[in-house]
Amino acid sequence: MTKIAHVGCGYWGKNLVRNFAQLGALAAIVEPDEAQAAKLSAEHGVGVQTLEEVLADPSIEALSFATPAVTHASFAIQAMQAGKHVFMEKPLALSVEEGQEVLAVAELTGKLVMVGHLLQYHSIFAKLRDMVQAGELGRIQHVYSNRMSLGKFRLEENVWWSFAPHDISMVLALVGEEPISVTAQGNAQVTPGIADWCTAQCRFASGARAHFNISWYHPFKEQRLVVIGDKGMAVFEDSKPEWAQKLAIYRHGLNRSEGLAPVPVKADPDYVEVAKNEPLKAECQHFIDCIAEGRQPLTNAQEGLAVLRVLQLGEAALQASLTAQA
Ligand SMILES: NC(=O)c1ccc[n+]([C@@H]2O[C@H](COP(=O)([O-])OP(=O)(O)OC[C@H]3O[C@@H](n4cnc5c(N)ncnc54)[C@H](O)[C@@H]3O)[C@@H](O)[C@H]2O)c1
Repeated sequence: MTKIAHVGCGYWGKNLVRNFAQLGALAAIVEPDEAQAAKLSAEHGVGVQTLEEVLADPSIEALSFATPAVTHASFAIQAMQAGKHVFMEKPLALSVEEGQEVLAVAELTGKLVMVGHLLQYHSIFAKLRDMVQAGELGRIQHVYSNRMSLGKFRLEENVWWSFAPHDISMVLALVGEEPISVTAQGNAQVTPGIADWCTAQCRFASGARAHFNISWYHPFKEQRLVVIGDKGMAVFEDSKPEWAQKLAIYRHGLNRSEGLAPVPVKADPDYVEVAKNEPLKAECQHFIDCIAEGRQPLTNAQEGLAVLRVLQLGEAALQASLTAQA
């Protein structure tokens, strides 16, 4: 079994610790907060070590990181240069340039990099992705993703960098190409200068369009991805409590007559049956399998870099919109 050390055991990292432990892969944890480190060490029966110690330990094949985003690129590079495969929480880095450096080191060292674009490992999104790639919805015309909730507010990054990597990753997988333009606007309502709401729009060479509506200052949780194809429409609504209703396909028709407005022929939704999974567990298992089989992860450094390109273009437009409001 692959031995993995996990670095950064805060709000999110403790979940990775639990999953790697349950999968029998956790060899050590690294966490500067001594109380948190001691708690997780006792819970999962693994030792607390320093980053230097795990980097120098030849029995540890891979490092998993859920540290602040500002550390991601340098930690990934340091780990690969020490001969370790890397699981990195999103975002892969804080700029395209940094992401390119990570990719270059991955190619040079032959080490795997996997980015924590969690929704790619959700069995319902995987089903939707397969259906779209098999052409079941026809030509993709429009995709939108709403990710809104109340909190968790952050000071080290805005809502676009915090939430949207997941949505961008899903949209790029569905449309199958990178956008030729990204526009965005946002607002900093709670903390001056830190956008807590953002809307962004993408245009693709195929003619497809996508938009995102992202907020951590919203009265309730909404996670809704809608795909409009010329043969069908799909809704993946992860915020629905019932698993069986999370993925709906609508095959509405259109009656067209020369010179008249099209008339919709409405159809009831078909709810698609998908085996339930725990996305985080599937994500951790995928990393372990990729190491064991020497294959590239679905969300590898290249995929992470594609997401970073959209993040960076959107961020520039978002900042311009904040400045215009100030
Ligand atoms: N996939 C998801 O759905 C999801 C959800 C939340 C957060 N995240 C990501 O996880 C990462 C961490 O976010 P968080 O909310 O857990 O933050 P956090 O602040 O709660 O946790 C970060 C942890 O890293 C530790 N740390 C800081 N510097 C360190 C260093 N130099 N070496 C070792 N440990 C260090 C901190 O002590 C802390 O425990 C971010 O990249 C965030 O985007 C992902």
